[in-house]
Amino acid sequence: MLRRPVMIFTAINSAAYRRDSFVLLSLILVATPLWAREPAESPQERRSACDREFGVRIGNEGKDVIWVPTHDKLTTAMLAAAATTPHDYVIDLGAGDGKIPIAAAKEFGAKALGIEYDSDMVRLAQCYVRAEGLADRVEIRQADIFRTDISEATVVTAYLLPKLNMKLRPMLLALAPGTRVVSNRFKFGQWQPDRTITVEGVANQAYLWYVPARVAGTWRFESETTPGESFRVRFDQRFQKIRARLLAERHRKIGTAKLVGRDMEISLRSSKQTLRLFGRVADEDIQLSGSADGDEVRYVGRRQ
Ligand SMILES: C[S@@+](CC[C@H](N)C(=O)[O-])C[C@H]1O[C@@H](n2cnc3c(N)ncnc32)[C@H](O)[C@@H]1O
Repeated sequence: MLRRPVMIFTAINSAAYRRDSFVLLSLILVATPLWAREPAESPQERRSACDREFGVRIGNEGKDVIWVPTHDKLTTAMLAAAATTPHDYVIDLGAGDGKIPIAAAKEFGAKALGIEYDSDMVRLAQCYVRAEGLADRVEIRQADIFRTDISEATVVTAYLLPKLNMKLRPMLLALAPGTRVVSNRFKFGQWQPDRTITVEGVANQAYLWYVPARVAGTWRFESETTPGESFRVRFDQRFQKIRARLLAERHRKIGTAKLVGRDMEISLRSSKQTLRLFGRVADEDIQLSGSADGDEVRYVGRRQ
């Protein structure tokens, strides 16, 4: 009794059966007249279909701010200023029609997420993402920007309002140091931008910030090149602005002290020379190096 199904199963799996199926399928495809096949639509045609199905007017009521899209050229300039690459994860806060996440993927090869509250906008943006063939790299999520985890972002973009930016600021300052934040038109209160982005013929400016490493406090730097040599520094910090004071030293003091994301520069001035040290703030320490009288000097700083 059991033999019949077993035989059918064996036949279906046989090489001859698979070869015959392949030949049959190929014949069907070849035999299908060209005129009976759908002409391939361009992304632009597919986008127009999205407009017809989900079209939303500029000025559409959003949750906390209406929809006004960032200018095309400024979109590209903002992502370029953030030095966006295929290794980045770009999150647009209040994504509107998804143009920033789409540009991040299409022009810069990044992965991107657009967070948008308004469900009509979300449907339009998702349709544009499919129209562009970017569904594997761009997600448009219906959510409130203030209730979404953005900690994985390496680039954050926004075009909101000053009041909303102020509400967002603590979330942004808590991101990994070095994360780039780009805002069209509006700043984040006293947190001054690291760079202004201007595009000829576009009225709005945009601004770029690097989330600063958190260095406030006292650090002890030990030389890795001259055993036993060390110095202690007290950093006061307001956003990316740092003021550094050498502790318990009479003959040297700090000249420059700069912080951009994780990159730090300080100079130690004595009557004989100025030692310029450059390096990075890692999670546990600060590595600085420079050159004194032609010899490399290296220090590792640890919190005290
Ligand atoms: C000025 S538009 C910017 C659109 C897009 N980022 C751009 O630059 O082209 C702001 C968008 O934020 C959305 N929005 C406002 N408040 C929001 C919130 N709390 N959560 C998510 N999206 C929000 C609005 O619906 C609107 O689409």
